[in-house]
Amino acid sequence: MSQLSIQQLRAAFPALQETPDRKPLIYFDGPGGTQMAQPALEAMVGYITAGMANLHGAFPTSIRTEEVLESARNTVADLLNCAPAEVAFGQNMTSLAFAIARSLGPFLTDQDEVVVTELDHRANVDPWVTLAQDKGAAVQFIPVNPATYTLDLTHLESIITERTKLVAVGMSSNVTGTVTDLAPIIARAKAVNAWVVVDAVHAVPHLTLDFRQLGCDVLLCSAYKFFGPHVGIAAIAASLFEKLPVYKLAPAPQHIPDKLETGTQNHEAIAGLIGAISFIEGLGSGVTRRERLQTGMQQIAAHEQELTTRLENFFQSQPEVRLYRAPAGTPKTPTFAFTVANVPARQVTSWFAEHYGMCLADGHFYASTLAEKLQVNPQGGWVRIGLAPYNSLAEVALFEQGLREFIRLHVPQPAGSPA
Ligand SMILES: Cc1ncc(COP(=O)(O)O)c(C=O)c1O
Repeated sequence: MSQLSIQQLRAAFPALQETPDRKPLIYFDGPGGTQMAQPALEAMVGYITAGMANLHGAFPTSIRTEEVLESARNTVADLLNCAPAEVAFGQNMTSLAFAIARSLGPFLTDQDEVVVTELDHRANVDPWVTLAQDKGAAVQFIPVNPATYTLDLTHLESIITERTKLVAVGMSSNVTGTVTDLAPIIARAKAVNAWVVVDAVHAVPHLTLDFRQLGCDVLLCSAYKFFGPHVGIAAIAASLFEKLPVYKLAPAPQHIPDKLETGTQNHEAIAGLIGAISFIEGLGSGVTRRERLQTGMQQIAAHEQELTTRLENFFQSQPEVRLYRAPAGTPKTPTFAFTVANVPARQVTSWFAEHYGMCLADGHFYASTLAEKLQVNPQGGWVRIGLAPYNSLAEVALFEQGLREFIRLHVPQPAGSPA
């Protein structure tokens, strides 16, 4: 890590600490969910310990719970650069996407079209596809280029047309790490007056985001991917949010953002979310919280880039490994999907868990359109190593050692190759 020491950073993650009866695992599944930072844990426990309550009460714990929600909206607004009133919480990203999709129903007819992509996690596909199906609207896919793992925008103008009502696109792939340049897609969508939903679940842990600058209408993310607990976050532009006819209980609040938050929220997780964001803030410097968050994210990116360069070089030196990664020049997160010769993905991850105590994920990771297109399903999908800021060079070196050993033991070597 350039300025902050990796030891200091790792010390903030209880799950990484060795105890007399526990040797910690090596966590390489950041894209599946990161470990929780101490400030998030403390905020969660602190909220519970001080007395839990529901909203709208005259007593102190209820008033404090409302303050927690307000503080969480302010904190998220600084992270994403949106207004606090545009921030709504929910169970997870998927549930929020379905709730928003259902609310958009009255605006769609069978004359309209919805655009999704082949690269996205299905959480940013199926809510909008089911909305289209319910309304008899057509669905168009922005294709992925199977050679570069990037979206093919060549025919954008004929995919996003005057009939398009909504475009749903991911900022970064949770499989290949490809970061999509959203500017031309959003510009085209806005030119035809379509709403844009951005799935930023895999982007927020690695990139500095700016909701205003992006110009999208909805941005979705999930705190458990960036050092916090399990709670989903939606930023919805007030212009859309105000008129969104959400499915809600009649006596529940009519105003934004509360109207989308059906039932009682996970207050302790929302408190934890504040702690998770303050952890990122603590890595940065600057006068405003937004500045500290931006510089904190830059620290994270700098450290992850160091590890990424090392891993990219390593993968290139392994002919038995096929890496599904966009070419140099395309921005990417530190997320690597690969296959090893003809070995089933689960065999690789099980071996690493057993012999190296490493958490590597396998499967299609719900990017199932991409998995089908790239025909990785017969092998059980991809193996994925996804880095988080608490991963060290030593851990990456150990992974490389492990993969070399795995290949030696499990992949038949051509005759005459060195033993
Ligand atoms: C890119 C991406 N989008 C959406 C989701 C779904 O998020 P959630 O689990 O909060 O519903 C995930 C989860 O892995 C993801 O990686």
